[in-house]
Amino acid sequence: MSALAQTRERDGNGWQNPSHRGAGYIGSHTYLALKQAGYEVVILDNFGNAQADVPDRLAQLTNAPVTCITGDVRNGALLDQVFADHDIVAVVHFAALKSVGDSMKMPLTYLESNLGGLLTLLAAMERAGCRRLVFSSSATVYGLPDQTPTPETAPRQAMNPYGKSKILGEEVLEHLVATDPSWAFGILRYFNPAGAHGSGLLGENPKDTPSNLMPFVAKVALGELPLVQVFGNDYPTPDGTGVRDYIHVEDLAHGHVLSLSALIADGKSHLVNLGTGQGHSVLEIIAAYSDACGQDLPFEIAPRRPGDVPVYCAETEKAKELLGFSTRKSLADMCQSSWTWVQNAATR
Ligand code: UD1
Repeated sequence: MSALAQTRERDGNGWQNPSHRGAGYIGSHTYLALKQAGYEVVILDNFGNAQADVPDRLAQLTNAPVTCITGDVRNGALLDQVFADHDIVAVVHFAALKSVGDSMKMPLTYLESNLGGLLTLLAAMERAGCRRLVFSSSATVYGLPDQTPTPETAPRQAMNPYGKSKILGEEVLEHLVATDPSWAFGILRYFNPAGAHGSGLLGENPKDTPSNLMPFVAKVALGELPLVQVFGNDYPTPDGTGVRDYIHVEDLAHGHVLSLSALIADGKSHLVNLGTGQGHSVLEIIAAYSDACGQDLPFEIAPRRPGDVPVYCAETEKAKELLGFSTRKSLADMCQSSWTWVQNAATR
């Protein structure tokens, strides 16, 4: 599984913990964004799905030592120690499992990891008197949305145990703040994170064959997989293939900085989508990645993947209004940075 990262403002009165895992794909990019914004950051990661040398690369990129604790967010005693050792004002919580398919096979593992981890963390935060948390949620909480772009007011609907774990996490946070208004939460519903850091030193590097589209396409570009299977071309979309709102991981990381800063500044909870508001089909992704890597990537049309929805696309107004969030990077940026990253990673 993953872990979490925690951060403290340079003046010593702020802290948070990035979503998914501190040294993982989104957590590592958020670490950099937080450092650039002037926060001090402590990472906690169990390295279940993160590369061991990520802290070294973060140190290289920031030209500063990285405080990284190896451990599990479900270890309450360890969390107490981390809170005792550091002046933590807020937490960004990334630590979670995220495979829909695995969650169907191991529902209890998913609940124990995603919900159990959150509960253990909240209890430790309560003991430490730290009540500001940014939580990684997902567009998956919309299930099969009947409105696209999908606003935050759309009903929550669990299609699988992974989705259920995110809905339950949101509900726990909402109940907590309703009971004790001294808590404040930033709930961030990610759409489809993609791309890599511009340096080529950070990116997504799944240990197994990827199930998500962009890392799969990257492996086809590298020649490690023969072709992309396009899961269905009979959806009610312009070219019949699934449409998603892909958001550059650096834009997503920036969203965490804005969320954290808002929590620290005004102590008010918020729940927002983080996406671009623009959808792209599977065929558009393959074409854009082909442009980035300079070769026509092979694909074949395959049956629909069970549980997939035709379109996920974010309504983005609320994130803009509440946090001043907007994205800066294009689909071409996502593909180009991913391609640079996977080529670097392949030679390491
Ligand atoms: C998936 C999860 C979602 C989770 C997210 C985490 C499912 C059904 N949904 O989102 O709950 O939050 O990952 O990152 O698993 N595709 C292909 N060929 C491939 C892979 C994907 O055609 O080899 C298509 C899919 O059918 C979909 C699109 O590409 O239309 C994006 O798929 P993917 O990257 O797996 O993301 P989601 O399904 O949106």
